[in-house]
Amino acid sequence: MNNRKKILIDCDPGHDDMMAIMLASASKEVELAGVTTVAGNQTGDKTFRNACQVLTLIKDNAPVARGSDKPLVRELLTAPQFHGQTGLDGADLPPVGIKPLDVHAADFIIMTLEQSREKMVLVPTGPLTNIALALIKAPRIKEKVERIVLMGGGMHDSNVTPAAEYNIYVDPEAAKVVFESGVPITMVGLDVTNRAIMTPEDIEALTVPGGKVSDVVVPLLRFFARANKDIFGLPGAPLHDALAVAAVIEPGIVETKHLHVAVETAGELTRGMTLVDFYGVTKQKPNVDVALELDARRFVSMMTAAIEKLNRKLG
Ligand code: RIB
Ligand code: CA
Repeated sequence: MNNRKKILIDCDPGHDDMMAIMLASASKEVELAGVTTVAGNQTGDKTFRNACQVLTLIKDNAPVARGSDKPLVRELLTAPQFHGQTGLDGADLPPVGIKPLDVHAADFIIMTLEQSREKMVLVPTGPLTNIALALIKAPRIKEKVERIVLMGGGMHDSNVTPAAEYNIYVDPEAAKVVFESGVPITMVGLDVTNRAIMTPEDIEALTVPGGKVSDVVVPLLRFFARANKDIFGLPGAPLHDALAVAAVIEPGIVETKHLHVAVETAGELTRGMTLVDFYGVTKQKPNVDVALELDARRFVSMMTAAIEKLNRKLG
């Protein structure tokens, strides 16, 4: 029996979602037990296709299931300004060469948790629609979830409105269900992920002559870095989602504080805000481990090692 931690990634690829999948696939510490997809950065058909293409590229046979094409009650807001019309603009990925499951992501999450002998870690890196649906449909799965380590939210940082981060903003009702579920949560938010940056130098250093993975990853990250520089003035590609996976592989890569976090669903100006009670003024019981600091260079070295390993795997 290996002692690798079993994880499920629920994602909306998305350049940084792709890097999260690659980091998990290359890691000896985690077992990627499944990938589910949700509409977010692009429409549901595109994020699903993108996940299948990424897994085809890296020859990872993790099961894949498609999920919700829209948030629980709101209209979908995609992010082509960061990810392009395909959701992975910047390079061509191989055609899909895997057979996905013909089951909804929420049902796949429920089945996988119920059939697993050990508890699993859920790593959502997109809007939380599928996770919320699974928890609503089968609350009993909470006993099989060791922790939800999600990319989303922020205490001080935001990127869709001055109050909210994209994944929470797109489906705040789903996020409320998750944050109020009672399941242990690590929130890997923009306060740390906007510092989880691969600079242009880090990106170019990934280049390996004939590297089948880096031949795709380098141009994709150049695209993502350019978009983030143009829009937010960031000094490179913020690999938001991959930091959530890194926090499962090496929890010490982030510093967290156990705080109460509430999700705003009714605010006219503050929809999707993650209200982090840093000083405990609400007297509400803390429900989230909020990541506030990170070891950014350790993170970049983990990403670099993962791409190098996948290059070697493909030969
Ligand atoms: O705010 C960043 C998050 O929104 C990331 O998960 C990115 O992929 C987008 O989904
Ligand atoms: Ca994402």
